[in-house]
Amino acid sequence: MVARRETNPNPATRVLEPGSGSNARQPAPEGLLAEPANDAILRGLGGRSIARVDDLSRDEVVHLARLAAIMESIEIAAHRPLWGKIIITAFFEASTRTRTSFESAALRLDGRVISIPDGQLTGVKKGESLEDIGEMFNAYGDMVIVRHSETDALDRIRQNLRLPMINAGNGTGEHPTQALADFYALMKWRPDFVSPEPAKPPIQLGILGTPGSMRAVKSFLLMAMKFAPHFERVVLVSEMADPLGDDLQQAVDQSDLEVIITNDMQACLPELDVIYMNSITLLGDSYKAMDSQFKLDSRSNLKKDAVIMHPLARLNELDTSLDDTRHNLYWNQAHGAVFLRQALYVALFNRLGRLPENIPLK
Ligand code: CP
Repeated sequence: MVARRETNPNPATRVLEPGSGSNARQPAPEGLLAEPANDAILRGLGGRSIARVDDLSRDEVVHLARLAAIMESIEIAAHRPLWGKIIITAFFEASTRTRTSFESAALRLDGRVISIPDGQLTGVKKGESLEDIGEMFNAYGDMVIVRHSETDALDRIRQNLRLPMINAGNGTGEHPTQALADFYALMKWRPDFVSPEPAKPPIQLGILGTPGSMRAVKSFLLMAMKFAPHFERVVLVSEMADPLGDDLQQAVDQSDLEVIITNDMQACLPELDVIYMNSITLLGDSYKAMDSQFKLDSRSNLKKDAVIMHPLARLNELDTSLDDTRHNLYWNQAHGAVFLRQALYVALFNRLGRLPENIPLK
């Protein structure tokens, strides 16, 4: 017997009160439940690590999104799918959403969490190496979620780590589960994303920022390459002369995405269906807000049905006057990440067999 959520006890999908974004987009997961999640594809993820977007195939992304939709629409907690598993969240850089949603996802599925919200509370403070810390984690948990402000830190921790690891953001590197959460929100908004056929009408995607130095934007663009047929073109709006950098430029060149670079946001804004923005970038050795001319508010010349995506945290580039409008998909991105991360755990821990019978999983 499958228990569907009648009253929704989960704040992650609670309808927002007027004045706090009640008109924001709240696309429902049902559109992703029209076909079952693929059991064999999801079982193939068992025991794997996710360090970058290209650690996942397009099909794996689609079926993780279908599994996340199951998590969002059906009561799973009573089946305790993560029972007996310990997840270490090791954050050597500040986070609101990523750490909390990974921990929330684990606790909702009856997993246990060892939380390191500040890496300076580890032996790092005394000069211990990340390689040694990775070796220690092997004995204390079953999976490690790592964030660090240095791009190479992930490789150093992995040198001795034998547990599955998820990259929660490494310097200017990547943030692959942010891209998964972003595309989960996109697929709920336009379920035709799961089809290999081009979306109709095709989507004009705008990216405001510099993917070369913004890891969430970089991972989003790399994920967009897997879904290239759905995008008529990508307009990258940046003040930088080279917003992609060599590696990403090469990936774009090898992809089926048509990417146009401009610094004229006003000219392209009325054409865009999806606008992905972020203003926080790595400059020198710390994160800074770009002093950007690219700001959006409720008076911006947006297409009527355009949606705005932002990994958050936001600064002045995304005005709060947009929160209570249909353009706001960013709350849904952040809230839906809990279900996406639940799906990841169940697949990586190979706990699909603990889910209730009769869910749409074949
Ligand atoms: N999107 C994101 O990575 O947010 P946090 O920095 O709060 O984790």
